[in-house]
Amino acid sequence: MKKRVLSGIQPSGVIHLGNYLGAMKQHIEMQDSGTHECYFFIADLHALTTVKDAKRLAEMTHDVALTYLSLGLDPEKTTFFKQSDIAEHTELAWILSSVTPMGLLERAHAWKDAVEKGTKEKTVALFTYPVLMAADILIYKPDLVPVGKDQKQHIEITRDIATHFNSHFGETFNQPQELTPESVAVVPGTDGQKMSKSYGNTIDIFAPEATLKKQVMGIVTDSTPVEQPKDPSKCNVFALYKLLATPTEIAALEAQYKKGGFGYGEAKKLLLAKLLEVFAPARKKRVELEADRGYVERVLQMGADRARIEARKTLDEVRKKIGTRP
Ligand code: ADP
Ligand code: TRP
Repeated sequence: MKKRVLSGIQPSGVIHLGNYLGAMKQHIEMQDSGTHECYFFIADLHALTTVKDAKRLAEMTHDVALTYLSLGLDPEKTTFFKQSDIAEHTELAWILSSVTPMGLLERAHAWKDAVEKGTKEKTVALFTYPVLMAADILIYKPDLVPVGKDQKQHIEITRDIATHFNSHFGETFNQPQELTPESVAVVPGTDGQKMSKSYGNTIDIFAPEATLKKQVMGIVTDSTPVEQPKDPSKCNVFALYKLLATPTEIAALEAQYKKGGFGYGEAKKLLLAKLLEVFAPARKKRVELEADRGYVERVLQMGADRARIEARKTLDEVRKKIGTRP
């Protein structure tokens, strides 16, 4: 039997290279493997914890969908939908919140981080974020949840919540496992920190060529003069190149660094060319898809119709177990 896979991505900003290598690439590979039954969705209700602008949320949702479809998501093979289209997620979230101890959420890194740094508005939704995420997951009873490393704890919380529910109401939910990409730990941004939209250090794979060039040329490097040998392991440009190039190309660039007489500007040009080469098919596809404004909406509607059938099955089972539908 095919393993069921589920994952979500927030439409809280333009998708960057870190999101692609850390999450989307793996999703699309799983779809293409033919051995997984995939459910991927856009977590627009989760994005509401940060985006409070209707036009922007709608635009970002459309943008994430276009990005996924351009990068190879096939809506015939994958059930691809928008979280808010399936009201069953929020009903299940409420039910799950009634078996979730406060302490479990108080220990969540994302919440603690937001409180300590004061970077996000401390709303009830930000606190209960992992409960909605648990509902997103458990309602489809998936085997695997491919996510970036930063989401691992949320999957652990999901398993805890499933256990609490089962112990109160009887065996209902399985224990989904997270799947974090081994090959890509954290994609560095142009300043060497983790690439993140909140740090303004992203490489935006669908940006116009001039913008992409500006981002690549702006990668921070040290001040080793051109003629001197350079240590590739300490260079952000090399770190990014390594994530995209073939082993032969990587070895060639490494040799150039070590030999000396090769400036960072040259390395940046190679990286830019590589980005344009790797993403050329996706960039072309995106232009084609953009021409049909209604396409994305139709795809998401079709996905929601499929997802809802599964979500309703689980919710009906849950309603019987808790006594709201005897
Ligand atoms: P951002 O940090 O830009 O706000 P998100 O937190 O919305 O990105 O992340 C969306 C997905 O992309 C998550 O699964 C996350 O693990 C992955 N991701 C984001 N940034 C990186 C990165 N620099 N390296 C690897 N994966 C990343
Ligand atoms: N919290 C995830 C993120 O920020 C997005 C998400 C919401 C998710 N619900 C999910 C991921 C369910 C996997 C499964 O990246």
